[in-house]
Amino acid sequence: MKAEDVKTIAMIGAGDMGHGIAASCLMGGYKVILRDIEQRFVDKGMAGIKASFDKFKEKGKMTPEAYDDAFKRLVPMVDIKEAVKDADFIIEAVPEKVELKKSVFADLDKYAPRHAILASNTSNISITEIASATQRPDKVIGYHFFNPAILMKLVEVIKGNKTSDEAIQVGYEIAKKIKKVPVIVKKDSPGFIFNRVNEPSLVLLSKIVEAGHPTPEEFDAALKPLMPMAPFELTDYVGIDVALHGLEYFAQVLSPDYKPSDAILAYLKSGNLGKKTGKGFYDWSKGRPTIDLAKATKEYDISHLIALQVNEATKLLEEGVADDPKQIDLAMANGGGSPFGPFALAQGIGYPVLLGKLDEIYKKFPLEIFKATKTLKEGNIKV
Ligand SMILES: NC(=O)c1ccc[n+]([C@@H]2O[C@H](COP(=O)([O-])OP(=O)(O)OC[C@H]3O[C@@H](n4cnc5c(N)ncnc54)[C@H](O)[C@@H]3O)[C@@H](O)[C@H]2O)c1
Repeated sequence: MKAEDVKTIAMIGAGDMGHGIAASCLMGGYKVILRDIEQRFVDKGMAGIKASFDKFKEKGKMTPEAYDDAFKRLVPMVDIKEAVKDADFIIEAVPEKVELKKSVFADLDKYAPRHAILASNTSNISITEIASATQRPDKVIGYHFFNPAILMKLVEVIKGNKTSDEAIQVGYEIAKKIKKVPVIVKKDSPGFIFNRVNEPSLVLLSKIVEAGHPTPEEFDAALKPLMPMAPFELTDYVGIDVALHGLEYFAQVLSPDYKPSDAILAYLKSGNLGKKTGKGFYDWSKGRPTIDLAKATKEYDISHLIALQVNEATKLLEEGVADDPKQIDLAMANGGGSPFGPFALAQGIGYPVLLGKLDEIYKKFPLEIFKATKTLKEGNIKV
């Protein structure tokens, strides 16, 4: 099948991600079937799409004609067989549980046309494992959007062990058609690209909390002028529980080095999870915390975080998860708030400087994941 043969997309799961992905597909001109397990969840997803489109219409980003046309192509549905029977491309965004995903994929395989490609928006689960629940592992791809899916550009298009190049190509072109920035992930590997490259910074935060210095505010104050949200502040904003979940997952599948420190786990135990509970590293009870820039530590600066990112990104090249540093940069720039990817930044700062910064981190916290790779030491990647 070619991308131009895809007319109908079925969206399985109408939650936070599902409704945003469905809205993006509608804006790309596709007929979209939105499916969830109960009518009330479908209704909530439909309301989410309407709220987004209302805003776009108000701001003049969507004409009244395009608005009406999009809703004509949107079909809400609870019955799974009906939802997928005419679909060419199916995107799953149900909760992140392996057994649930596998049972959903077994159903999709049973009820969808033979030519249909099945895509999973999983954040972490192995695509190969999800595909094993079907008789068509060649047509199963990872399709990782970022939150909020209607606005964020990056889509990681992930190859499982048995995924065909044709299925990857179709996924890639559909992502382009819905005006996203697709990046192909060549190997089914934990965290794919974006989450993997960012994770070591979280390990550093966890280690700093354990060491007891600098304080979160002293650390953030050093970085805040260069970032829309400083690292500890951002972790509070997303949720300390979410961050810990990520670390625990990486500790299980990649290296015990990711194991969260007892000091950071104490936040979870005390129920201080960040913004949503009113308290985390900061007090959020009166709104966004003010960070006193005068308290900035001299121990760390933004180059330490860039060093960690570049080092991890070189591992993706060494492991064959990606083979083009430009694609890694494209993923990093479009999945987060930074206009530049780590390799472009490294080129600007200089590899020897970053190597020195990484070495400083390693001397404080001698973990294998903080060790410079051969590629980083060679320092000759140009983008
Ligand atoms: N939220 C994020 O920031 C984010 C970002 C990237 C990827 N993801 C991934 O996207 C997936 C969905 O996450 P979410 O945040 O949208 O979750 P969510 O809980 O908001 O939505 C999940 C939806 O799936 C529905 N559902 C459950 N079983 C179903 C089934 N068998 N068929 C159809 N629908 C079913 C639920 O009723 C719910 O509406 C997860 O795999 C998650 O890891 C989430």
